[in-house]
Amino acid sequence: MTGAALRRVKPVDNNGGARTAPRHFLDLRDFETGTLRRMLDLASSYKSGAAAKPLAGKTVALIFEKPSTRTRVSFEVGVRQLGGDVVTLSGKDTQLGRGETVADTARVLSRYVDAIMLRTDAHAKLQEMAEFATVPVINGLTAASHPCQLMADVLTFEEYRGPIAGQVVAWCGDGNNVATSWIEAAVRFGFTLRLATPDALRPPEEILAWARANGGKIELSADAAAAVAGARCVVTDTWVSMADDPNSNRHNLLAPFRVDEALMAKAAADAIFMHCLPAHRGEEMTAGVIDGPQSVVFDEAENRLHAQKGVLAWALGGG
Ligand code: CP
Ligand code: NVA
Repeated sequence: MTGAALRRVKPVDNNGGARTAPRHFLDLRDFETGTLRRMLDLASSYKSGAAAKPLAGKTVALIFEKPSTRTRVSFEVGVRQLGGDVVTLSGKDTQLGRGETVADTARVLSRYVDAIMLRTDAHAKLQEMAEFATVPVINGLTAASHPCQLMADVLTFEEYRGPIAGQVVAWCGDGNNVATSWIEAAVRFGFTLRLATPDALRPPEEILAWARANGGKIELSADAAAAVAGARCVVTDTWVSMADDPNSNRHNLLAPFRVDEALMAKAAADAIFMHCLPAHRGEEMTAGVIDGPQSVVFDEAENRLHAQKGVLAWALGGG
């Protein structure tokens, strides 16, 4: 059949051919610093009470192929606070779970909703969603990265300690998806990131090479004490991520990177402790650290809500 034979008798504006490229939010490395700053400024203005409703009349699909507490609730609440509505789906609820392609799912959902947030395993699925969607696609975590988390983390650091540019942040533990987004944030926001990981669990060489090529101040070691020395912020994350084999025993490898009170004492006297949550007390950090006076983890969790409102307003509200 020719294209002419498929032409509609009555033309309709069905959102099938977006006039301008959708504003996807896939990874921090895709953005100039100024654009990320605009999103953070919007986040701060919403947090301080700005009542704008840039998502009025808009619907966002939230797709979870992996579990979530913070991402799910903060997106649902954030979209509604901005005047929009949500449709929340688990991978199993949709035909994605029965083998419908990501590309077809993207094309269909783009006819119904104004943006798609996806939490999934393979980063390639997120990229396929973005390639075929005609509406913005937002990364709600993949095995490779978690940029929404880093928008909240930068917001939180700056609320406590001022501009993050020029500061030293220490990551101790697994070189996982959140570590990758910290590396991208270090490059984009201009701070030094010292990563202490077991040699076998370093972040992917590809992201390290990108950071080096872009002037990133990224220091790698297998020495947690050296990484933390004098740092303004100490960060860790679970030793077993959702993409990891739950039976893989990485605990022996990671035990020397546990953030305990003795390790925190090597950081700057006013250092803050951050963790994206969910946390495992007695594993990646002691209860004394996460429940102690330097921990800002619940402000960090709250800031997911504000930071994502900034991302949504930029993606959908022209902010
Ligand atoms: N930090 C974070 O993304 O938490 P959830 O897995 O609960 O969404
Ligand atoms: N690295 C963790 C983060 C959870 C929010 C995971 O991927 O499971």
